[in-house]
Amino acid sequence: MSRTILNSLMQNADKMKHWVKPSDSMRGKTLVSLYYEPSTRTACSFQSAMIKLGGSNIYLAEKFSSIEKGESLEDTIRTLNCYGDAIVMRHPKKGSSEIAASVSNVPIINAGDGNGEHPTQALLDIYTIHSELGTIGGKWSNTPMRILFLGDLKNSRTVHSLIRLLCLYENIEFIYISPEGLEMPSEITEHISRIGINQITVYHLLEAIPIADVVYATRIQKERFDIHENINAKLLSLQYQITPELLLKAKPSMILMHPLPRNDEITTDVDSDPRAVYFKQIKYGVYMRMAILEWIINDNL
Ligand code: NCD
Repeated sequence: MSRTILNSLMQNADKMKHWVKPSDSMRGKTLVSLYYEPSTRTACSFQSAMIKLGGSNIYLAEKFSSIEKGESLEDTIRTLNCYGDAIVMRHPKKGSSEIAASVSNVPIINAGDGNGEHPTQALLDIYTIHSELGTIGGKWSNTPMRILFLGDLKNSRTVHSLIRLLCLYENIEFIYISPEGLEMPSEITEHISRIGINQITVYHLLEAIPIADVVYATRIQKERFDIHENINAKLLSLQYQITPELLLKAKPSMILMHPLPRNDEITTDVDSDPRAVYFKQIKYGVYMRMAILEWIINDNL
């Protein structure tokens, strides 16, 4: 990924936002959506994007497919190659999209691979920050743009992908807050150190909230824990819960993001705060995924 590609994708997403009539650029094209894990937003936004572009979508969930009969990922992908122009896939295992891509003749779009990556969410998150704040880093202000990541940073794939994209920008700084044992993976912090971007870990929300320009909250990824690990996700979320009282200390220009679904990390009475943009993020996601599909399927960037 490069800044040039990112900029083109954002420009194309912007154009789609302003379309009044549906397009037919995907007429005759089919997206196959393969989900080995639950999804609300990613699945619906890819489908919505495809519909808006005049194409179609085939949705297949693990529970209703031959995967239940023991079919391998490779054979499933070879089969779906016969139906679609691209495959969007979500899978519980890190690295599974690479395995899928190695046997596929059509592009594989990673819609989340275990606690690995979630690149299209990262693209829509970048688009959200850019649209809401007008810029990402750069000539932001005298201080760097500070992005605060909080929650389960070890297992949140959306964070892993977003932080890699943010590394393409200058004048930014990362702040981390997570429950003990759920810190950002060292392969990511080492990558950021090599690039030379400032990153700090803090232990109290009150230290970080007043200086953050973007707050990116995530839920405890319960499904990634070993069944023998006795975790109490609710208690962990309460350690960094965002409330209206806490937001009194935040900058008026700050934006609060969350990939959703939310559990207890943001109380619902925060939703009416204009700085809470997590529901707007969903809408940005549809335009960004339209731009992504145009790029991947129609080679139109
Ligand atoms: C995220 C995911 O699946 O990683 N959801 C999403 O795609 N918007 C976040 C999560 O499940 O916590």
